[in-house]
Amino acid sequence: MFDPKRLRQDFPMYRNHIKMQGKDLVWLDNASTTFKPDVVVSAVTSYMTEETSNSHRGDYDLCFQMDKKVKEARETVASFIHAEPNEVVFTSGTTASINLVAFGYGVKFLKPEDEILLTEAEHASNVLPWFKVAEMTGCKIRYIPLDKEGRLTPENLSKTISEHTKIVAVAHVTNVLGFLAPVKELASIAHAHGAVLVLDGAQSVPHMPTDVKDLDVDFLSFSGHKLCGPTGIGVLYGRYELLCKMDPFMTGGGMNAKFDMCGDVGYLAPPMKFEAGTQPLAEIFGLDAAIRYLQSIGLENIHQHEKELKRYAVEQLKKTGIVTIYNENSEAGIVTFNVEGVFAQDAASYLNHCGIACRSGQHCAKILTSFLGTIATIRASFYLYTDKEDIDALVEAVKNMKGGAFLDAFF
Ligand code: ALA
Repeated sequence: MFDPKRLRQDFPMYRNHIKMQGKDLVWLDNASTTFKPDVVVSAVTSYMTEETSNSHRGDYDLCFQMDKKVKEARETVASFIHAEPNEVVFTSGTTASINLVAFGYGVKFLKPEDEILLTEAEHASNVLPWFKVAEMTGCKIRYIPLDKEGRLTPENLSKTISEHTKIVAVAHVTNVLGFLAPVKELASIAHAHGAVLVLDGAQSVPHMPTDVKDLDVDFLSFSGHKLCGPTGIGVLYGRYELLCKMDPFMTGGGMNAKFDMCGDVGYLAPPMKFEAGTQPLAEIFGLDAAIRYLQSIGLENIHQHEKELKRYAVEQLKKTGIVTIYNENSEAGIVTFNVEGVFAQDAASYLNHCGIACRSGQHCAKILTSFLGTIATIRASFYLYTDKEDIDALVEAVKNMKGGAFLDAFF
């Protein structure tokens, strides 16, 4: 049986009874980042204390061991998303992965007559790199309308896409509303128009099984720290033939096969072409350990657990009679809401006072505010170690906000 309380024993942040404002920490900001289990801590520590050396830069045992472990980590990631190892590029995170596609593919191939399709629900990391592509190539940015609830639908993509569309860049799960995009249908429409589908998997890959071949996406990005791994490590999956065509974003050591005084340069084949400089080895090994940990629990189990938490949170928050919920029907473990008469950031400060960590504001999705009709919301987001007591604590704190009277006492 899925038991978040037992899983908490794997996490030092729980075992160490971390407090916030003198109260037991209730961590409900998992869409922002996640706690790290012992296996990740020890993978990172082993590198620091027993294995330190560099990869592909030496002819001695320690270095050889690094190459072997990086290869194994790449295989772990590849099997996790059903890709080939040479389609897995290590980056510093989702932001770096999307920027790599934007600069390596978008800037290289797009022309002024071309267009890129986004939605209003995208995170800054899946908007601003494309604005740069538009600035540098003269191409246009257009937005696929969301439906009334905030979902991206195949119908709306079909109505918006044209023969000028070269890139469709959307989130698999949106970071504010948590809607799951119908990726297979979107990919089929994009491909029928000769466009590539660039999927932001930051909020999906940590929470549910992912199969890039079945989804038929061209690029997929995700971050290690949102799936119990270290910060500073992420992945770009790209179809191999696309990775071969695109340019590196960074050049330097470790990614070239040759160069001479005249500037004649040969790059290594993907994925090494995109991994200039010393690889983030501790982070790569931490990511490998995190993925194995999630696989041992089962991604489908995690997804089902979060869906149940979401259902429970919506039910309990609605019972208070003082909240507006913006994503009641979305699939992910994210509840985004406001408390009647209380500004979201005041509410989040009060939650902090109660020991509860929730994100508030615009959540880096600044275009979405006009769709939502509010400039700020509170977001509670769940993970494998979240339990119903965390949600009960949130709901109790929300009840205390009734009428805003708490504000006088609090501030
Ligand atoms: N992308 C992270 C979030 O949505 C930081 O909170």
